[in-house]
Amino acid sequence: MMEIITSIGEMKTWSRRIRDEGKVIGLTPTMGCLHEGHLSLIKASITECDSTVVSIFVNPTQFGPDEDLGSYPRTLEADKEVLRSADIDVLFLPTKEDLYPDGFQSFVEVDNKTKYLCGKSRPGFFRGVTTIVLKLFNIVNPDTAFFGEKDRQQLEVIRTMVRDLNLNVTVTGKPIVREDDGLAMSSRNRYLSEEGRLSARSLSQALETAQTSIEQGERSTETIRNKIRQMIEKRNGTEVDYISVCDPEDFSEHKEIRSKTLIALAVRVGNARLIDNRIVERT
Ligand code: PAF
Repeated sequence: MMEIITSIGEMKTWSRRIRDEGKVIGLTPTMGCLHEGHLSLIKASITECDSTVVSIFVNPTQFGPDEDLGSYPRTLEADKEVLRSADIDVLFLPTKEDLYPDGFQSFVEVDNKTKYLCGKSRPGFFRGVTTIVLKLFNIVNPDTAFFGEKDRQQLEVIRTMVRDLNLNVTVTGKPIVREDDGLAMSSRNRYLSEEGRLSARSLSQALETAQTSIEQGERSTETIRNKIRQMIEKRNGTEVDYISVCDPEDFSEHKEIRSKTLIALAVRVGNARLIDNRIVERT
């Protein structure tokens, strides 16, 4: 039976009790509007841990002033049903007032890794993410936390925070889950119009083409970036935010493709800002 906990104190008490029983706790932090991508993380937690907690909280500190905090899709009743069917142990639903009480002024920030990609185009985003994730870790006290590789920079930034601050959590990343036509699953796909949905396919198609080019011997990161840009910009309603061909761990860019390369994209398609990525190993 899924328990719903809204109070921070009750969540801490539950976690202490479960740990005292010698059980391993898995946490999947989410902002709700659950899709198959979230479900793959939740299923991994159920398989790998004794007790599974999923949190839903649309975290205001990771949204910029001109971003979609107000319109971010909220589908709580449907999410509850999905989580009940998945048979998780606890749905943690903290309130904004409890997480960010009046006078809140403490943030945690990862330095270098947040200067690139989404960190560059969304100032303050990772500061908000690491702060809420650290708070959730402190409240839920999980042994393992699950994050999707679609948000690869987020995953690396959280891993760095965990290492640097000596947190007792194992961070587990799980592969991107895609629609049949390759579009990476995202809560923001809901913002796409019918035409936008077609244009959005160009992200995964361009990544695939880039991978093939590298496998066939292309070594110039600039050529790869240009190829991706051309493929995406010829589709209606697309606006490239960034295309990066970079190191998968520190996100630095180089002129030549190295042995292991991350290709990461952020593209606006109508009202939706979509991200996708792929790691390519040079043969
Ligand atoms: O990836 C997300 O949904 C959010 O950034 C997270 C990790 C739940 C923090 O709010």
